[in-house]
Amino acid sequence: MTETPRRLAHDEIEAVAQLARRVWQATYPALITQAQIDFMLADRYAASRIRQQLDDPRHAWWITGMAGAPNGFAHALLGDHHDCKLDKLYVDPGLQRQGLGRALLGAVRVWAQHHHARCVRLQVNRGNVGALKAYEHYGFRIIESRVFDIGQGFVMDDHVMEMPL
Ligand SMILES: CC(C)(COP(=O)(O)OP(=O)(O)OC[C@H]1O[C@@H](n2cnc3c(N)ncnc32)[C@H](O)[C@@H]1OP(=O)(O)O)[C@@H](O)C(=O)NCCC(=O)NCCS
Repeated sequence: MTETPRRLAHDEIEAVAQLARRVWQATYPALITQAQIDFMLADRYAASRIRQQLDDPRHAWWITGMAGAPNGFAHALLGDHHDCKLDKLYVDPGLQRQGLGRALLGAVRVWAQHHHARCVRLQVNRGNVGALKAYEHYGFRIIESRVFDIGQGFVMDDHVMEMPL
């Protein structure tokens, strides 16, 4: 499947949050507790937070899929050191491994290069074998592995990966 990513519009925020919940429930119960999934979804996909990011030129969101029915999304932000953080990359569980993730990453790369970033960096759960394989396939390499305290007693046990641009 090759769908061209487009920028997320304000009226699609709710649909993206619903897609996020579907992908997270298919991915993370084997890796983190349900309480942590609920905490992180509520924190990261709050409509008010996404709205702020859409209005901030240092952030960018993309989606794939029909209007009002997204099947994949990415969110990236610019760092202070000519770097770009890929904060989210998620594809509908029924449509994975059909090129949507690669297409979304392509849009992130173009945007990051346009903003003079020298690399794209991300964090991925150490046990998320499928995503790790995908990122390695795209050209990311592990540069660090550590536990991040995210508050409320929750941690993220992650690899930090980087891809030069
Ligand atoms: C990780 C993810 C974004 C990749 O997007 P995708 O559209 O499924 O992957 P692509 O079609 O772009 O995959 C390109 C290549 O990556 C590798 N790959 C992707 N997913 C893989 C998996 N689950 N297991 C092994 N290899 C995988 C393959 O080599 C694949 O090429 P191939 O299918 O021709 O062998 C998507 O699978 C996803 O949303 N996973 C669940 C959520 C998640 O973990 N997101 C990342 C959070 S950090």
